[in-house]
Amino acid sequence: MFPAAIDVPPATYLDQLGTIFTRFGTQDSGNVSYGVRTGAARYFVKSAGDPADTRPYLDFAGRVDLLRTAAELARSVPHPVVPELHAVLESPAGPVLVYEWRDGELLHEPAVRERFQALPTAEILAALDALYDLHVALDAAGWVEGDFYDGALLYDFTARRLTVMDLDTYHRGPYRNTMGRMFGSSRFMAPEEHVLGAPVDTRTTAYVMARTALVLLPDPPPELHQVLIEATTTRFPNYRAFYDAWLTASSTTADNLANRSR
Ligand SMILES: Nc1ncnc2c1ncn2[C@@H]1O[C@H](COP(=O)(O)OP(=O)(O)O)[C@@H](O)[C@H]1O
Ligand SMILES: [Mg+2]
Repeated sequence: MFPAAIDVPPATYLDQLGTIFTRFGTQDSGNVSYGVRTGAARYFVKSAGDPADTRPYLDFAGRVDLLRTAAELARSVPHPVVPELHAVLESPAGPVLVYEWRDGELLHEPAVRERFQALPTAEILAALDALYDLHVALDAAGWVEGDFYDGALLYDFTARRLTVMDLDTYHRGPYRNTMGRMFGSSRFMAPEEHVLGAPVDTRTTAYVMARTALVLLPDPPPELHQVLIEATTTRFPNYRAFYDAWLTASSTTADNLANRSR
């Protein structure tokens, strides 16, 4: 139903397709995105914004590169926690990514994060399990974390459903820190993301995912806490090793939660 290319600006095309019900354009990314409704269907449509906009830290060519990465990532690792990528349209303003719309609130918002942190442990663990399961698939396909933080997480408190989006800054394969302090939120970043020339790889993904649990799960069960501490101190050699340790500890937690509710 979507054409391979359009010859008008994305917003013009979307106005013809249906109704633009929201617009995301104040992001420091420079990207401009839209919520679009056509009949019963809703889409999240992401573009690289105005080619002449040089305010953001990335110029237009850089923004286009990240959107190409996002499309490659979505296609290489389809996963229920990630919005489905329906189409990529070529336009005069670069690629236009048409994703499934997902309801949810941004966990980066302090009030939303606090509400999430106050949920029952089992519900927070279910969301983390979804996030970690996605990262097993990403890791196996060679994807390495880049600039992940809670701004990539939407939570639907009614459906109890996590959505992971905006993984545009992930890298396919290990890379080197060429910036010193890289872009990112310090609460989530691994030490190597602060050190010029340091390798960033599957170990980094493990660290950042462990930090995510430490941020989102204020009172982790002791056996899980131990895995998270190990992941952020002595470290695991790769994401898979972290995930296996997490699963092993989780089965203990599940037993304990079941016993307690008996
Ligand atoms: N599939 C989606 N469905 C609904 N809303 C989304 C979806 N993906 C992203 N969003 C919302 O749009 C905002 C901007 O999208 P994001 O991918 O983070 O763009 P940017 O690259 O500009 O940061 C997000 O903060 C989130 O609130
Ligand atoms: Mg974003």
